[in-house]
Amino acid sequence: MLSGSPVTRRRALALFIGTALTSISAGVAAIAGRFLWGKPPAGSAAGRAISVGKLDELPALADPVERSISVNRLDGYFSETRRERIFLWRDGSTLRAFSSTCTHLGCAVSWDPGSRLFRCPCHGGLYRPDGTVAGGPPPRPLEDLPIEIRQGEIFVRGMDRA
Ligand code: FES
Repeated sequence: MLSGSPVTRRRALALFIGTALTSISAGVAAIAGRFLWGKPPAGSAAGRAISVGKLDELPALADPVERSISVNRLDGYFSETRRERIFLWRDGSTLRAFSSTCTHLGCAVSWDPGSRLFRCPCHGGLYRPDGTVAGGPPPRPLEDLPIEIRQGEIFVRGMDRA
């Protein structure tokens, strides 16, 4: 096919350039589409609802309760499903859900029942049961996750990241 004639080389070059431009255009369109119409930001009320248990399993005024959930993560073209921890905290009639991700540099916090604080092992960040900062470098409270209750079952949204 590519016998060396100018017309054939010209056609081959045009085909190569056309294919390259089509690939580049598709890539740019995919990136623009994700930017313009991508998934909702973390903590958004939209997105997949993940069941985290029954409401009557959570005693009022108790310490925060840890739950492990399966979340979807998309990083560029790489997607994965992995387990992450969240905390549910019920204070009287108020039910809240917190991400376990420290707002300083992203380490996972744990609940310390002795001090009644969430503790971050990386730089000593401390959070109160309501997620507010009690000490250390975290700049913001723990992420407050949108929740909904349907027929006695608790659902959390906003954990999938795109
Ligand atoms: S990552 Fe938690 S205090 Fe730094």
